Amino acid sequence: MKKLIVLSGAGISAESGIRTFRDMGGLWEEYDVTEVASPMAWENNRDLVLKFYNERRKQLYEVEPNCGHMGLAELENDYDVEIITQNVDDLHERAGSSKVLHLHGELKKVRSTGDPSLIYELKGWELKEGDKCEKGYQLRPHIVWFGEAVPAIEDAIPIMQSADILVIIGTSLNVYPAAGLLQYTSRDIPVYLIDPNEVVPPSSNIISLKMGAGKGVKELKKLLMEKMNNEQ
Ligand code: OAD
Repeated sequence: MKKLIVLSGAGISAESGIRTFRDMGGLWEEYDVTEVASPMAWENNRDLVLKFYNERRKQLYEVEPNCGHMGLAELENDYDVEIITQNVDDLHERAGSSKVLHLHGELKKVRSTGDPSLIYELKGWELKEGDKCEKGYQLRPHIVWFGEAVPAIEDAIPIMQSADILVIIGTSLNVYPAAGLLQYTSRDIPVYLIDPNEVVPPSSNIISLKMGAGKGVKELKKLLMEKMNNEQ
């Protein structure tokens, strides 16, 4: 089976009702990123950080995967699919995708501030000041904040190197090191880009599907099917 690697971002979850970060009306228009998503914010303004992530978590329990997530999960019938996502939601998993690597953490998990190896599934949506790990340290959201290392990037590099087909979907490719992962795929593989906006300059090996995730994944499946038939 060919290896199909997906690099996804906030746009894949937009049609589920989760706001992106940098579009018009995106989260970073309402919030200053350094005030809610940085170690400094955690030190200086913990209530706001907890509130921000509690709101996101609460909403995650109210939304469902969309046809984009579902379509990617269905591709596992024909391809060895691995998803590298910048998203902290669990919509890829809930749609049925079996291999999902979260580069920026997971909203439904929390971890110890004193021992980062202690990671827990949070019961319910609310994390509070005073919620502690088994060693007595305060728990924090299991999210990679700005200025923090992205440990999962080490696992993402070999996955990118193994790609026979790359699909980029719903990411503005603004944030590093995630955006830098593109340099690790072989230059001759087909790259499909699904995004209603232009995120990279058009080039010969990029097949751009300028549309939303639901429609885009449907179109992708059609193109992949045609390609597979031509190759047989
Ligand atoms: P962005 O908000 O930067 O980009 C979202 C992308 O989705 C844009 O290119 C949009 O054009 C596209 N988009 C919008 N609606 C769409 C739809 N219906 N279908 C498909 N695409 C659509 O989000 P990311 O690139 O994921 O990090 O942002 C990367 C990181 O920046 C996030 O993980 C987050 C943020 O700050 C942290 O919080 C650590």
